[in-house]
Amino acid sequence: MQPWEEHAIRRPVLPDRVTVYEVGPRDGLQNEPETLSAAVRVEFVDRLTDAGLPAIEVGSFVSARAIPQLSDTEQVYRRIRRASGVRYPALVPNVRGLERALVSGVAEIAVFTAATETFNRRNINAGVDESIERFRPVVARARAEKLRVRAYVSTAFGCPYEGPVSPDAVREVVHKLLDLQVDEISLGDTIGVATPANVFDVIETLYESGVTRGVLALHFHDTRGTALANVYAGLECGITTFDSSAGGLGGCPFAPGAAGNLATEDLLYLLQGLRIETGVSLPRVVSASRFLSEALGHRPPGRYLAAVSGESA
Ligand code: HMG
Ligand code: MG
Repeated sequence: MQPWEEHAIRRPVLPDRVTVYEVGPRDGLQNEPETLSAAVRVEFVDRLTDAGLPAIEVGSFVSARAIPQLSDTEQVYRRIRRASGVRYPALVPNVRGLERALVSGVAEIAVFTAATETFNRRNINAGVDESIERFRPVVARARAEKLRVRAYVSTAFGCPYEGPVSPDAVREVVHKLLDLQVDEISLGDTIGVATPANVFDVIETLYESGVTRGVLALHFHDTRGTALANVYAGLECGITTFDSSAGGLGGCPFAPGAAGNLATEDLLYLLQGLRIETGVSLPRVVSASRFLSEALGHRPPGRYLAAVSGESA
């Protein structure tokens, strides 16, 4: 090896284009102490549409006792402006949730399970296999109705109750979901413990088991400040769909210790800097987050938002 070769920088080949899947109106708001009116959430979704986001998770059709903040998701769907080509999915836990989604004209649903038993029981009152059985009629009916189906695997990198999670546990649940014929699987770092090495381990295990990259999305919470590093690791693995939340709000009430989602602004800033296309306007996402911030009466945790607002994060 020549001396200069030792110091040569090998730039990784990254995707040219990425889909930013916005979860702010759902994951962002489900953990807020304040319940916002449907009118405010409609305005928030419309602003996100104006920003050019290609997929916006509008809300959830779950038990009002579990998530009172989103109990009137029907109202939001009734009034949002739906841009052509934009996906407006909803979170659905069971057949009843699917029926509510169908009445609301939803064209894409997201079912959700986990890699660990304890978290799944706390979140949806079912073990992992039990939840897969619960989804079977949901996914079958959704497919018959020509709906797109996403599935989340929460605690894919660590569980608030069971600790570290093995990539093999993730592989098992991912294959069960693929057997149900879902279109996309989002791997959730529900409590924000992952590092890039964990991302490589999980994705390598999935690829080795025959999972294709196009089916996977990554969903990071930024609890320990590793979310963007994890996105970069995901890009190196060829992943092209990343979930994020405008302003960086979010978290699951059944995952103690979880902080906000990766902020959409922070994700976009990184992707722009890497010259990766998203079709999303960063200033317009900032404007949506500022609108929400005023409605909530506090500043969301996102770093880029703080920087352009002249505040320290
Ligand atoms: P359960 O108690 O086993 O079910 O809850 P149940 O059938 O006995 O119903 C309980 C109550 O919910 C009943 O009402 C039902 O009528 C009602 P009650 O008689 O007590 O007044 N109910 C419903 N209401 C409206 N819509 C429905 C519905 N289904 C039942 N679809 C259940 C099971 C799944 C319903 C409940 O545990 C639940 O709703 N959990 C939702 C939890 C949730 O939304 N968590 C946050 C989202 S997951 C997340 O954030 C992680 C993610 O972001 C990825 C990541 O970060 O890892 C996706
Ligand atoms: Mg989440």
